[in-house]
Amino acid sequence: MTLSWKTAWAGLVRRGPSIVRRLRLGSGLVLFSYVSFHFLNHSLGNISFEAMEQGAVVHEWVWRSPVGTLALYGAFAIHFSLAFWAIYIRRHLRMGWIEGLRICLGFLIPLLVLQHALFQRFAYTYFDVHQIYRHVLFNIWVSNPQVAGVRQITLFTVAWLHGCIGLYLWLRVKRHFHLVAPFLLIVAFLLPTVALLGVFQGARQVEAKASTDRAWLADLRKTGAGANPQAGATVRTIILWSWGGYAGAFALVLMARGVRTLVERRGGTIRIIYPDGRAVRIPKGLSVLDASRRAGIPHASVCGGRARCSTCRVRVLLGSESLAPRSPAETRVLAPLGADRSVRLACQVRPIADISIWPLVPPEMTVRDQDRLNEAETGSERFVAILFVDIRASTQLVESRLPYDVVFILNRFFEAVGSAIIAAGGTPNQFIGDGMMAIFGSEIPAQEACRQALEAARLIDWHLAEMNRTLANELQQPIGFGIGIHAGDVIIGTMGYREHAQTTAIGEAVHTASRLQDLTKEYACQLVVSEIVGATAGTALDDFASHEIQIRGFSAPLTIRVVGSAAALPPYDRPSPSGETDRSTDPAAPIYAQST
Ligand code: FES
Repeated sequence: MTLSWKTAWAGLVRRGPSIVRRLRLGSGLVLFSYVSFHFLNHSLGNISFEAMEQGAVVHEWVWRSPVGTLALYGAFAIHFSLAFWAIYIRRHLRMGWIEGLRICLGFLIPLLVLQHALFQRFAYTYFDVHQIYRHVLFNIWVSNPQVAGVRQITLFTVAWLHGCIGLYLWLRVKRHFHLVAPFLLIVAFLLPTVALLGVFQGARQVEAKASTDRAWLADLRKTGAGANPQAGATVRTIILWSWGGYAGAFALVLMARGVRTLVERRGGTIRIIYPDGRAVRIPKGLSVLDASRRAGIPHASVCGGRARCSTCRVRVLLGSESLAPRSPAETRVLAPLGADRSVRLACQVRPIADISIWPLVPPEMTVRDQDRLNEAETGSERFVAILFVDIRASTQLVESRLPYDVVFILNRFFEAVGSAIIAAGGTPNQFIGDGMMAIFGSEIPAQEACRQALEAARLIDWHLAEMNRTLANELQQPIGFGIGIHAGDVIIGTMGYREHAQTTAIGEAVHTASRLQDLTKEYACQLVVSEIVGATAGTALDDFASHEIQIRGFSAPLTIRVVGSAAALPPYDRPSPSGETDRSTDPAAPIYAQST
């Protein structure tokens, strides 16, 4: 029983942000419909104020019905409470101008609408005061245009702008929004303009009628809120109390934020490590996007952190095991992209231990740019073989030569190694100082990937022997090399920044292959290859010495084979489409010779 409660609570916590977002959206849509309906009613003033009153009958029939009342007041209560919740839950108040404007306008609405709403609805319900359009137009626009009129225009503008911004922030991340945006913009300008004109026209007609028809004016004064002083006094008292309560609620939210900060400081902090090595320290429980914003690190977030756009996504390079699983909202956004486990939404993931991340989207990315991202940029997980090769005695090479000679020799080395890798079927991926990393298997099965990697090692030996012969007069001693090969699951994806981005592999298999290359110095051999590569390739490596080593971060030891000379590896006879042995990777084939 305890377990089920815990499970239910954990589920609720995980779904909490998505429930809040849906409630905010749903209640906002109800309120926006109410305002739009109200504006349509105002527009009838362009015909006559009597037309406005007839329209109001329909308006009241909808919004004063039990269902309409529940929907309207329920939506207001939810939306208003969630506004305070949003202020509490935000870890910082840094935000884009449009988001800031939306929030400020939203908090102005209750202050502006209170008097109008109380006279229209509260007085009607508790004092049986039924104000229709002629009362409101007379009281506001004829009797008190400088104060009440200005307040109504401000309310009119503030409520409409707040709703339109909310709708825009919701819709702009939708795929085809840019197609309907011009039409929505036209409606957003036309509807309030026509409504306001309707109000002015209606007010002019009421004023004209009041000045020409004294009996009609006397009748008007006998009804409405002005005819019931008790209702007016009660409403004014409620307004004062409400403003006090409003200020108190603000103070409480700000105090709660302060208490939370103190509690979080006691709970400890963690580090978010960025690709440039910067580490941002934040309290546990803050999102990665919060960390970026706090530290002023540009981070794409088109939807403002609402788990709608995916532009904030990051690859978690280290520490992903400490993260909670993806929430339903996160899954809904990332699943269509085919993003693997290590990709998370920075706005949703709240680390409780140090993590290292790699933002996948440039900070200035827009939604339309986002649509153009292809799968390679999103990243995919694959089993590949990774080969690291490094030149030996590079220090002596540099010390005894002019820089130009060093560059020339290194380029010959890369050419020899690179052509061997390509001939075997792999892809030279990164040049790291005087070494190179190559990937085998980004598009072929695991067995062939491992076979190609072993074949590449054999060809590298042959190509470098050729190079040493060709450059014998230039070199004091032949250039030696060390190779490490390992295979495993890695993330293949495009990483980097703008034009500096490139497709590469990241993951433990890459680190391990690099470590095996280092071990060639210890074992004084040309190649160290993990047993898994031979086993996957189906190539017997029993003739080579076997060792068990411990790689940092792994609990189980790794079995390796130490190969003194890569030339001793069995050749890989790749079957050609015709079924005959493909000799294109035979050392006898003049691959390097041709390329030089
Ligand atoms: S900012 Fe849009 S999903 Fe995170």
